[in-house]
Amino acid sequence: MKKPKLKNYNGASENNLDFFVNHNSMRTESTSVLHPMSWESVIPRWHFAMLNDVERNQAFETAIKHVVSPNRRVLDIGAGSGLLAMIAARHGASYVTSCEMVQPIAHVANKIIALNGFQDHIKIVAKKSQDLVVGLDLAQRADILITETVDCGLVGEGILPIIRHARQALLTPDATIIPAKAVVKFSLLESHLVHNLNLAFDSASFDVSPFNVFSTVGYFPVRLRIWPHRLLSKPTTALKFDFQVDSLEPRQKEISVQVEHNGTVHGVVFWFELDLGNGVVLSNAVDNQKSHWMQAVQCFEEPINVQKGNVLNLTIQQSDTNIDFQLATTLEH
Ligand SMILES: C[S@@+](CC[C@H](N)C(=O)[O-])C[C@H]1O[C@@H](n2cnc3c(N)ncnc32)[C@H](O)[C@@H]1O
Repeated sequence: MKKPKLKNYNGASENNLDFFVNHNSMRTESTSVLHPMSWESVIPRWHFAMLNDVERNQAFETAIKHVVSPNRRVLDIGAGSGLLAMIAARHGASYVTSCEMVQPIAHVANKIIALNGFQDHIKIVAKKSQDLVVGLDLAQRADILITETVDCGLVGEGILPIIRHARQALLTPDATIIPAKAVVKFSLLESHLVHNLNLAFDSASFDVSPFNVFSTVGYFPVRLRIWPHRLLSKPTTALKFDFQVDSLEPRQKEISVQVEHNGTVHGVVFWFELDLGNGVVLSNAVDNQKSHWMQAVQCFEEPINVQKGNVLNLTIQQSDTNIDFQLATTLEH
């Protein structure tokens, strides 16, 4: 079987992380046209779906209330509306520092916190977490970190470098981190319609394949249940993260996956299981219809035909903001 070519089309790099995080983070599809005078050119629309995700909000509330107390110092990275900082304060945190790197969001978070009467307990710092200074922005290192900087493929909003830096510069050595752990699982995906969301070859009998220079190289969000599809392998663990102790550095891993059904592999679908501690787990698995997070899909440029019993060898590359699956070799059984 042929090994699919994967070209680095879009040139996204670690150097444009700020742009990537602000404009391209991927929870849900961003389908509307950006109006230059609209906030939408700066503030992704997924903030609304996220704020209305009751399952997410309740999960964080349950996890947060287990750990906060008046004498513990809370750092919330990525304030957004201030929601998680207010939840911490509601459950007894006497002082919460919450940073937000997008200035207009930080400004509105301050308003929301005052509106809800928490201005004496929460300080919003309009900075990127990596620019926070202990002794200036927060009095001392924090012993609780809360950060919900998770996109559909877990890492796209920068949670790995955020926690890595926080552990090194902003937290006590034994700090509690919410989320505590995560697992990324995947299945081989058959769906030519999902493949068509990112690649085009023949349109009205014209060869339009050069347009694929604009294809997304990495993963993108898809609400998989709305597209005809088949999962050709069982859910398989791709990567595990322990945010308290792992280095969270980029890594590469080889993995073998057994094909369960004859068909055509167009790519992989993957999702996370986010362990918030104390038995609270959030997931954007395909069958979770409540989550605002869609699934992450990565298409292979050239689909491959497989048979039940084949074993596919995949290389998984995890960087600070991407998880990339590449087909290595195929072994017949
Ligand atoms: C997904 S939202 C979560 C908002 C809020 N914590 C909640 O759960 O409702 C993440 C927010 O973090 C901000 N953010 C992402 N990376 C950040 C960083 N390194 N430092 C500060 N803010 C960051 C984004 O601008 C965004 O507003």
